[in-house]
Amino acid sequence: MASPKSTQSLPKLAIESKAFDEMAKRYDRGLGGANLQIVQKLLERCGDECPLTAESVVHDNACGPAVVTRAILEFCTTQPSRIYATDYAQGMIDIASLHQQQADWQNVTVELMNGQNLSFDSNTFTHSISSLGVFMFPDEEKGLSEMYRTLKPGGWIGVTSWNDVRWPIAATAAYERLFPNAAEPMIFPRARNWEQPEDCERMLRVAGFKDIKTEIIQCINRQPDKEAAIDTLIGFLKNISPTAREWDDGVWKQYCDYFHEEAGLLFMPVPSGQGQVEMVMKAVITSGRKPEESA
Ligand SMILES: C[S@@+](CC[C@H](N)C(=O)[O-])C[C@H]1O[C@@H](n2cnc3c(N)ncnc32)[C@H](O)[C@@H]1O
Repeated sequence: MASPKSTQSLPKLAIESKAFDEMAKRYDRGLGGANLQIVQKLLERCGDECPLTAESVVHDNACGPAVVTRAILEFCTTQPSRIYATDYAQGMIDIASLHQQQADWQNVTVELMNGQNLSFDSNTFTHSISSLGVFMFPDEEKGLSEMYRTLKPGGWIGVTSWNDVRWPIAATAAYERLFPNAAEPMIFPRARNWEQPEDCERMLRVAGFKDIKTEIIQCINRQPDKEAAIDTLIGFLKNISPTAREWDDGVWKQYCDYFHEEAGLLFMPVPSGQGQVEMVMKAVITSGRKPEESA
């Protein structure tokens, strides 16, 4: 078995838009409802702190397949005057646009846009939301400063990030079985600035936000069966791990065999779920306000 090539540690999550393009079609299925549960909690928080009104203008930033937008349209009793759903991956925007056409959303604009360089005017939005988004930007500070700039004074920001996605345990265990004497650990992206509530609080505070609240919540990734669950994780892993990208097909196949065994331990059968399995994950939801006096 070839030994792993030396891998350099990444300064930050460096997932290219191309990788998100490739993941787009499998994205919603792969999350098994977990991302929607996170958004629902965030919108509950929004309802408590800064409820949407008919005058609200909302940014769904790094929207993926328009996840926040769909949740607002489906679950919020008062609809905002407009939602702008933006993402820098064309694959995600294509799916968001498809949702828009199919459901004939009248109050939504879907647009390809880099969150580190928003083309909106300053002081545009009453609500700026980025669920599992801004924390992944290569330059998260720039992403937050753009959210700050484009929010109206007094506007509400809501962001979410991963605290524990569980699968790295299986990925590392499989790697250690394949390369017991590896000099380097397997590399996959981590957003260390966003895993703990106190870190999320600091990120928003440094960006200028106030009245910040943050908490860890649980969410459940539910899949039709174990095979489907593991296959989706394998697809994600190949796209996001620079270590795995360096392997030839033979090494990758051997790795996948080990990963199948290890990842299978993470998913539990759903009682009376007809073969369905689920994995509990944890996210951090964080909210705050742009100070009124920032005008
Ligand atoms: C984990 S997905 C989250 C999607 C969705 N918001 C959700 O709640 O499931 C992360 C999204 O961030 C987008 N993204 C990452 N970096 C970005 C950037 N610099 N600008 C805009 N979108 C970005 C990706 O294309 C991807 O759609």
